[in-house]
Amino acid sequence: MPRPLAGPLPRIRLLATGGTIAGAQTAGRGYRAAALSIEALVAAVPQLAILAQIEVEQVAKLGSQDMTEAVWRKLAARAQAAVADPAIAGVVITHGTDTMEETAYFLSLVARTENPVVLDGAMRPANAMSADGPMNLFNAIAVAITPAARSRGVLVVANDEIHFAREVTKTNTTQLGTFHSGQRVLAGLANAGRPHFYAPPVRRHTAASEFTLPARTALPRVDIIFAHAGMDRALIEAAVAAGARGLVIAGVGDGNLGAPALAACAAAAKKGVAVVRSSRTGGGVVERNIEIDDDRLGFIAADELNPEKARVLLTLGLTRTRDPRALQEFFLAY
Ligand code: SIN
Repeated sequence: MPRPLAGPLPRIRLLATGGTIAGAQTAGRGYRAAALSIEALVAAVPQLAILAQIEVEQVAKLGSQDMTEAVWRKLAARAQAAVADPAIAGVVITHGTDTMEETAYFLSLVARTENPVVLDGAMRPANAMSADGPMNLFNAIAVAITPAARSRGVLVVANDEIHFAREVTKTNTTQLGTFHSGQRVLAGLANAGRPHFYAPPVRRHTAASEFTLPARTALPRVDIIFAHAGMDRALIEAAVAAGARGLVIAGVGDGNLGAPALAACAAAAKKGVAVVRSSRTGGGVVERNIEIDDDRLGFIAADELNPEKARVLLTLGLTRTRDPRALQEFFLAY
């Protein structure tokens, strides 16, 4: 256990959104996500009082499959208000694990701060046997009060690991070690409240980000389309007809598509829809002009971003420009 800190404890703003960390197990393996309040989660971990003075706010109460732009906006505003308060050392956000990587990456692009913003969740409901939520919350608070966490952007803490928002992805349906950071590896480890940090993040984020949320207009619609053998044009044309201003293709292999789907994407790009090629493989880099002539077709390569992160960046990128070359620069910078 960490030693009690000398002097007054740092203040942490704890924003809650629900998820399995606040879940209540019902019969068998069944459970209800977001059943418990943040007050109940904090009360279940009295050891938190060693680390910090915690101020809680229930921003939402949902399973993260129901995460919306409206909640993202509220979360971004509440996190920004917290970091603007010089008395607050950092922000911790409890969140469902299913879309945590998207929220974390979104916040890493719109939150202007050097202070730690840490997301955490759990794979097991709060009252399950060997629940993982209490230690994940303890570690998240420990990371958020650590000066070494400053300037590292938005972090995700789970299963004793610290991940950068840009790198982390959920890889397993149920296991505790679900979060991985792929080829860019871990931001650090958290051993029962003792954080250890490794290399800093590699791309622009938070204080160095150029993205702001448009106050009055909704974010543009961006759809993800999963490529597969025997794919035709139908889903691409349906997305454009539904008003998509951007398409992220979870392409096969190196972000590829069969001929009919490729022709539909080319037609969409010609109409001014931004088309990003990412990969459904879960790893590697999608570069420009390898098998597909991105220059000629006006496509954007996702670089290292998986489809769900590419969607977040394209959504914000489209608030700044529709020029595919300028959008490509965002994918190389963030
Ligand atoms: C959710 O994402 O809200 C449900 C799954 C989880 O939190 O692990």
